[in-house]
Amino acid sequence: MIPMIEMQNICVSFRSEQQEKVFGASRKQVLFDVSLSLPKGSCLGILGESGSGKSTLGRVLCGLLKPEKGQVLLDGMSVYRSRQGKRALQNRLSVVFQDYTTSANPRFLIRDVIGEGIRARQRREGIALNYEKEVTRLLDLVGLEASFAGRFPHQLSGGQLQRVCIARAVACKPELILFDEAISSLDTHTQVQIMDLLKELKERLDLTYAFITHDLTAVTYMCDNVLFLYQGRVTEQIAVERLAETKDEYALRLLHSIIDFEA
Ligand SMILES: Nc1ncnc2c1ncn2[C@@H]1O[C@H](COP(=O)(O)OP(=O)(O)O)[C@@H](O)[C@H]1O
Ligand SMILES: [Mg+2]
Repeated sequence: MIPMIEMQNICVSFRSEQQEKVFGASRKQVLFDVSLSLPKGSCLGILGESGSGKSTLGRVLCGLLKPEKGQVLLDGMSVYRSRQGKRALQNRLSVVFQDYTTSANPRFLIRDVIGEGIRARQRREGIALNYEKEVTRLLDLVGLEASFAGRFPHQLSGGQLQRVCIARAVACKPELILFDEAISSLDTHTQVQIMDLLKELKERLDLTYAFITHDLTAVTYMCDNVLFLYQGRVTEQIAVERLAETKDEYALRLLHSIIDFEA
């Protein structure tokens, strides 16, 4: 079976500002031949320390950054080769970021934050939805009462606001959601609650997840496969249940640091 998303030999570099003045325009490579496959219905963890290229990989995956080399395939069709390819991806994908405080406009009521996702779906499907009813349904789906619709983002806790961002993400009926450090700024207890919500939504809505994080514990809780990214290179892609068998140095280091921490 063709995976829903396949990335083949992705290379990305940026203009390097520091060296530019001395040597002229030079480039810093951030991703080196990154390949991955994301089967429908799975949750793939993309794990790496800060600066390893996770968000850059996420931007390539969701159609926002054309790689210099390599391909992104959606159901076998090239995403970056045509405008239709990119549109097909964007119609089927939502993104949830770490910084829920800036990803929700502070001047919008919660109903309008979620409304952004509802409008995206209306445009795409050419249908008229009962807006208030849809907002209530989505709030309920993420475990929030209908009265939250009339609040502003600053009147919510971090966990509640991230639930709103999740409601906005599922409002447009995506098949695939990319989470970029979506739970990283929450306290541990809230992280677990949000991960439980995400697992439940994944089953109910038949979703596929790409889950970017620097936290191996979250990966083992959420994901069925994990890709280790170290300085822009994939050092390992392995089923979470087989993690103990890894021979990859970076993966082992992370595994041991967790075991030490818990011991
Ligand atoms: N738009 C950009 N221009 C220049 N450098 C960038 C840009 N985006 C990311 N980088 C650099 O690429 C590297 C990887 O960044 P990023 O993908 O954000 O890593 P991560 O999400 O794993 O922390 C970093 O060194 C970062 O400074
Ligand atoms: Mg990042």
